[in-house]
Amino acid sequence: MSSRISASVYTSHVPAIGVAIDQGLVAEPYWAPLFAGYEPSKSWMADHTPDVIVLVYNDHATTFSLELIPTFAIGTAAHYPVADEGWGPRPVPDVVGHPHLSAHLAQSLIQDDFDMTIVNALAVDHGLTVPLSLLFGQPDAWPCPVIPIAVNVVQYPPPSGRRCIELGKAIGRAVASYDDDLDVQVWGTGGMSHQLQGPRAGLINPAFDAAFLDALIADPEALATKPHIDYIREAGSEGIELVMWLIARGAMADMADHAATDPAVDAARPTVTHRFYHVPASNTAVGHLILEESP
Ligand code: DHB
Ligand code: FE
Repeated sequence: MSSRISASVYTSHVPAIGVAIDQGLVAEPYWAPLFAGYEPSKSWMADHTPDVIVLVYNDHATTFSLELIPTFAIGTAAHYPVADEGWGPRPVPDVVGHPHLSAHLAQSLIQDDFDMTIVNALAVDHGLTVPLSLLFGQPDAWPCPVIPIAVNVVQYPPPSGRRCIELGKAIGRAVASYDDDLDVQVWGTGGMSHQLQGPRAGLINPAFDAAFLDALIADPEALATKPHIDYIREAGSEGIELVMWLIARGAMADMADHAATDPAVDAARPTVTHRFYHVPASNTAVGHLILEESP
């Protein structure tokens, strides 16, 4: 008996999207085209709800503050309250964890040379809750447990693309060695191009975003060597959030080390279940992708 990763899901996490959902504004002309792009994913998700989501996101100096900045942190709690980011917590369900799989992931990742910070108490901000709202709508309870993996992309220096892909691979190994029969999805969140501050505030780069999505699907290794300065120059200071997508992508079967020498690797590339791109949403270009493992 072992667990498996069935799909990876990628989405931006703009706070204003949460506000639009929470305040019933989704049919407004500004928002309707954005939410229409997530309808196919919501239907797909209803039929493919996993047993657990490993959700890679960044805390926006909400819980960790700038006094303590783990590069990679894993939530190990049974329960994650919704953070108050200044306007009160979003009116969404608290997040239920999976402490047993979290403990296994922490053990496996740390023994596999990734020095994860273990977080036993964690209030989750828009980085985690907005993706849940986009894919699940407004349920009374989230349909499955979530294990947060928080990545520092707020305070220089962020982790490299290579390190993120390697962490994804290690998550893949950890899930495969979990002694229960769980269907696990790994989500990568944040991005796409955006800059919230300084003279270039409002920067959007659709050409960069399209090329990133193409490479993420078909040639993620090419992204491993992209330096953080390229993200910041091309995709804006907050565009660096995109490195988190490489963690989710690294967890898929075609990225496993043994797959690299397997001539069938191209055939094992994941299926693109849904791809969507929309500008604008607040200050951000919204990108969204679902990649399913080939059966
Ligand atoms: C916005 C985007 C983000 O990624 C974020 O963390 C905060 C705000 C925005 O576009 O408004
Ligand atoms: Fe963000």
